[in-house]
Amino acid sequence: MHLHAILCVLATYYESALSLNARSNEQKGDGKDVTPLLLVSFDGFRSDYLEKYPLPNLQKFISGGVLIDHLSNVFTTKTFPNHYSLVTGLYAESHGILASRMYDSETNKTFTIRDSSDPFWWDEATPLWVSVQNWNYKSAAAMWPGTDLMIQNRTSTYFLKYNPKVPFNERLDSLIKWLTEEKLVKFAALYWEEPDSTGHTYGPENTTMMAKALKEVDDNVGLLMDRLNQTGLWGKINVIITSDHGMVQCSQDRLIRLDDCVDRNSYILVDTTPVAAIIPVNDSSDLYKKLSTCNVHMKAYMKAAIPDRLHYRNNKRIQPILLMADEGWTIVQQGNLPRLGDHGYDNSLASMHPFLAAQGPAFRKGYRMNTINSVDLYPLMCNLLGIPEMPNNGSFSNVRCVLLREKCSDLAAVIGIVIGALIVLTTITLLFRLLKNREHSLPRPFARLELEEDDDDEPLLE
Ligand SMILES: *[C@@H]1O[C@H](CO)[C@@H](O)[C@H](O)[C@H]1NC(C)=O
Ligand SMILES: *[C@@H]1O[C@H](CO)[C@@H](O)[C@H](O)[C@H]1NC(C)=O
Ligand SMILES: *[C@@H]1O[C@H](CO)[C@@H](O)[C@H](O)[C@H]1NC(C)=O
Ligand SMILES: *[C@@H]1O[C@H](CO)[C@@H](O)[C@H](O)[C@H]1NC(C)=O
Ligand SMILES: *[C@@H]1O[C@H](CO)[C@@H](O)[C@H](O)[C@H]1NC(C)=O
Ligand SMILES: *[C@@H]1O[C@H](CO)[C@@H](O)[C@H](O)[C@H]1NC(C)=O
Ligand SMILES: [Zn+2]
Repeated sequence: MHLHAILCVLATYYESALSLNARSNEQKGDGKDVTPLLLVSFDGFRSDYLEKYPLPNLQKFISGGVLIDHLSNVFTTKTFPNHYSLVTGLYAESHGILASRMYDSETNKTFTIRDSSDPFWWDEATPLWVSVQNWNYKSAAAMWPGTDLMIQNRTSTYFLKYNPKVPFNERLDSLIKWLTEEKLVKFAALYWEEPDSTGHTYGPENTTMMAKALKEVDDNVGLLMDRLNQTGLWGKINVIITSDHGMVQCSQDRLIRLDDCVDRNSYILVDTTPVAAIIPVNDSSDLYKKLSTCNVHMKAYMKAAIPDRLHYRNNKRIQPILLMADEGWTIVQQGNLPRLGDHGYDNSLASMHPFLAAQGPAFRKGYRMNTINSVDLYPLMCNLLGIPEMPNNGSFSNVRCVLLREKCSDLAAVIGIVIGALIVLTTITLLFRLLKNREHSLPRPFARLELEEDDDDEPLLE
C-alpha cells in the first residue's frame, strides 16, 4: 500500500509539472495546436437509459472513446444549476444559479426558466465560453443555457437565441458552419430538450414513450457523427456527450400537500418541488416545526442545518427553510400531481445521475470509468483547450485518465508489475519455508541438498 501511494504521488507530481510547462510555453490566443471541443447535452438523460434501451449510434460513439457511467452531479438536480456547473466547475451555491425558480430579497427580483435573462443571476461565475473569449478564441453555441445572455458583459461569440421549436438538425448545422468557417472557434456547445421533456410528461417508467424519445435522441447522435464526418471535422475535434440530470417516476400516491400542514399566509413559496424554498412571513421556528412533521417523506431544514454534502448553503438566495422530498415524491400546496416524471432530488440518488461519453483525438479508446463529479468536467475542458481554470470545485486529477496523453494505464501497469512481483516473491518465500518445514519432518530425501549447500560454502577455505 505504501509503495502504491508513493508511486501515485510521484506520477501526479510528474504529470502536473509537465502540464504546467506546456501551459507557460503556450501563446495566448494563437490556437494552432488546440483541437476544438464540442460539448453536447441531451437534457434529462438518466445514466441507466444506456443499458435499458437500444442506442446503436451512441454505443458506436462510446466504443471508440470513453464512457463514465455516472456523473455525480450537483444539488439541486435541475437543468439550469447543472448546466451552469458543467461549464463553471462550481457547485450551485458558488455559481448562483440555485434552482429553476429563485427570489432575491435585496433587489426584489425573481428568476424563472422563462424569465432568466437578467445578467444579475449569472454574473457570480465565469462560464467556459466567456473564458475562451478572454483567451482570444471564439465560441459557438446552440441553445446551451446562458449562452445567449450577457454574462460578464458577453454572450457566446456565435449563438442562437433560445427557442425550443428550433429542431436538432438546425442547431447542429449552425454549429458546424461556425466550426468550419472560423478556425478560432475552439469551444462549441449544443443543447437538446429530450429525453427530459418525454420523461416529465409520461414518466420514465413508460418504456413505450421513453423508447420512442430515446430512439430520436440516438438518431440525433447519428446525425451528429455523420455531419462531423462529412465536413471533415470527425477525428479533428474532441466531442463530449453528457447531460444535466436523471429522472424518476412520480405518482398521485406520493403527494405531499403543504396545505394539510401549514397556513398558506404564513410563508412565501419561492420554489415548489421536489425541493421547496420557503420564506416565513413571521416566526420561522413555529413554521419549521409544523413543516418538519408534515410528512415522513419530506425533510425540512433551517438554512444553517442544510447538510454539508449538498454544498447548498452559502448563498444569500438560499431561503430560510428548505424542504426536500424523498425520491419520487412531489410537493404541492394542494391538488393533483403536476407531472409523471421529475428531477431536482438529492444528488446522491443514482436516478438523478446522467452519464458522460467522450470521443476524439485527445481521448482514450474503449476506456471506462465508474464515476466522476460533474464539476470535474470543467477543469478537464480547460486542460483540453489549454486555458487557465477559474476558481472551481472540480479536480483535473479525478478525470485526467480519460486522456490519451496522461500516463495512467502505464502507471497501473507499473503498479501491477510491482504488485505481481511482490506476490511472486511472497509465494516463493512461503514455498521455501514450507519446503524447509517439510525438510524437518522428512529429513531423508532432502539431506543431500543440505550437504551440497554446505559443500558450496567450504571450498574457499581450502
Ligand atoms: C416586488 O416585485 C413585485 C412583482 O415584481 C411587486 O408586485 C412588488 O410590489 C415589489 N415589492 C417591492 C417592495 O418593491
Ligand atoms: C460591455 O461591452 C460593450 C461592447 O462590447 C462595451 O462598450 C462596454 O464598455 C462593456 N461594459 C463593461 C462594463 O465592460
Ligand atoms: C405510456 O403513455 C401512453 C400515452 O399516454 C399510454 O397510452 C400508455 O398506456 C402508457 N404506458 C404505460 C406503461 O404507462
Ligand atoms: C465516415 O464516413 C466514411 C465514408 O463514408 C465511413 O466509411 C466511416 O465509417 C464514417 N465514420 C463515421 C464515424 O461515421
Ligand atoms: C404575523 O405577525 C403579525 C403581527 O404580529 C400578525 O398580525 C399576523 O397575523 C401574523 N401573520 C401570520 C400569518 O401569522
Ligand atoms: C468551490 O469553489 C469556490 C471558488 O473557488 C469556493 O469559493 C468555494 O468555497 C468552493 N466550495 C467548496 C465546498 O469547497
Ligand atoms: Zn426537466
